[in-house]
Amino acid sequence: MNKLYLWGIIIAALMLLFTYMSVAGSEGGLNGDIVNILAVAGAVALVIITVFVVIKYVRQMQTDTADGQLADEQWDGIGEYLNNVPTGWAIMFLLTMVWGMWYFIIGYPVNAYSQIGEYNEDTQAHNEKFETQYASITGSRLIEMGESVFLAECKICHGISADGIDGKAANLNKRLEAKVVKHVVENGSNNHLLGTEMPMPDRNGLFNNNTGALITDAEIDAVSAYVANGMRGAGADVFAGACAACHGEDGKGMEYVAPNVAAFTTELVANVLTHGKKGAIGQMPKFDRLNAKQKEAVGAYITSLSK
Ligand code: HEC
Ligand code: HEC
Repeated sequence: MNKLYLWGIIIAALMLLFTYMSVAGSEGGLNGDIVNILAVAGAVALVIITVFVVIKYVRQMQTDTADGQLADEQWDGIGEYLNNVPTGWAIMFLLTMVWGMWYFIIGYPVNAYSQIGEYNEDTQAHNEKFETQYASITGSRLIEMGESVFLAECKICHGISADGIDGKAANLNKRLEAKVVKHVVENGSNNHLLGTEMPMPDRNGLFNNNTGALITDAEIDAVSAYVANGMRGAGADVFAGACAACHGEDGKGMEYVAPNVAAFTTELVANVLTHGKKGAIGQMPKFDRLNAKQKEAVGAYITSLSK
């Protein structure tokens, strides 16, 4: 008998044996169960049809001689026929792409029947539980919660005592260092510290209303020391003339206009965590994975440090 058919029969027999074994299970036998019997009958039909259709095409490939016009290009002696893409095939191809997108975006992978979908729904349920459980936390418990977030997420750069590890990151025990203020006044800043698009102008946009001229180097040094000193000492007049219009006379900021430069606020920290911050010291990464309550808590903790 033809070797190909022999292989076909062996493979078909093996597949049928495995199908029977898995359907019959440990009890052995189909137990007259109609579903089991139908499953095996269906499998017999499918396996036989598949094996013999495959054999038909393998034989056809062995004997077929192709006709039609060859393309000019050849790759290592292998050529290509100049056939149009069959319409049915092209339609199937496009439909598969559309289906693929549907499948990925709305279909199986992100709904509850898949591992990813289940994970997403579990996370959502957990977050809702978190929110109801911690919604009402305020005061010292909020600060404690913020401290644990800080120790888990922030101490790697800011240090256990939030001192910034010798200038690696900002020292959060004080609102601003002189070199940070100086950098911002000279170069401007657009880190969305208020959560809005509003930038801080650079020195070419900063007039001292007392002198009517652009801010000078000496004035920048004076006002930087003043802000870094907690709004004390010399430089108060420069601040009043060049900064107070936006940051307020006491430096406590104005909603939608300019942030508080006298003290940390929970809103400022939350905005820093949402947008990240790039400045004189370096790059502070975004922390989008923290939820609103965690941002509020770590903000309360940082605000409590510099008091
Ligand atoms: C036109 C309004 C305006 C004026 C005038 C202004 N600022 Fe600002 N300032 C802003 C805004 C808006 C921001 C927030 C920028 C951001 O989102 O990065 C800011 C941010 C800052 C910051 C950054 C705070 C931080 O946490 O990094 C410092 C420091 C600062 N200003 C100091 C000054 C000083 C000192 C002056 C006066 C010499 C001044 N600003 C004048 C609007 C102003
Ligand atoms: C990869 C290091 C790194 C990590 C992690 C990090 N920071 Fe920062 N952070 C910085 C650097 C650098 C700066 C200084 C940015 C600048 O040049 O002004 C900074 C600045 C800040 C500021 C000062 C913003 C201002 O306007 O003055 C706050 C607040 C802050 N970080 C909070 C946090 C909190 C809260 C966490 C943890 C959730 C955290 N950081 C984690 C590097 C880091």
